Amino acid sequence: MPGQPPTDDDDGRPSLATQRDTETVYQPAADSDLLARTARSHATPGDRGLDVGTGSGYVAETLAEAGVDVVASDLNPDACREAAARGVPAVRADLLAPFREDAFDLVTFNPPYLPTEPDKEWDDWMEHALSGGEDGRRLVDPFLEAVERVLAPGGRVFLLISSLTGIGDVQRYAHERGLAGEIVADEAHPYERLVVIRFESRDESPLP
Ligand SMILES: C[S@@+](CC[C@H](N)C(=O)[O-])C[C@H]1O[C@@H](n2cnc3c(N)ncnc32)[C@H](O)[C@@H]1O
Repeated sequence: MPGQPPTDDDDGRPSLATQRDTETVYQPAADSDLLARTARSHATPGDRGLDVGTGSGYVAETLAEAGVDVVASDLNPDACREAAARGVPAVRADLLAPFREDAFDLVTFNPPYLPTEPDKEWDDWMEHALSGGEDGRRLVDPFLEAVERVLAPGGRVFLLISSLTGIGDVQRYAHERGLAGEIVADEAHPYERLVVIRFESRDESPLP
């Protein structure tokens, strides 16, 4: 659950995270690469950027190489350490909670998006990186509700979404919350379609 990192059980037994012996930080994959390439191609040197749920810090590092003044954030402290080791300033945060309003020109997020039945959930950090809850939108919806607050005037959001999560549902949800969305990258993969949607405040979008 967001904001509730896995801990050892109250009875002193190790958590499933310890027993499962898995990586704790999501490593760059096709989704990371699509988001990084797309956001970089829309970035302007000097943009103030935030990479939410940064994992290894790969997307944030790509933006930094393009001249973006970027901060990485993640709920997972191991991810913050990995991102910092790439030379990117990293902040441990639950979504956008600690960031001030109007702070960023560019916000990127590759969320945990796999639809997951409650009885298939684990209590470890890799589950936090992958599981989007029953509908895949456990973190996508709260992110879309909160992101406009941290956007500077003219700011843009680049959100990676899978067909498994419901691309149309995400666009409708965002539209109802005052965000204009446009698909700016689209890739077919064996079991899913990955898209990047660029959102901006409808107040900022040009008149038709
Ligand atoms: C699919 S991984 C993406 C990692 C990386 N951005 C990439 O593209 O390779 C999702 C990331 O979101 C992080 N995350 C999960 N819940 C979060 C929350 N409530 N706030 C911030 N980050 C969260 C996970 O720890 C994980 O690093």
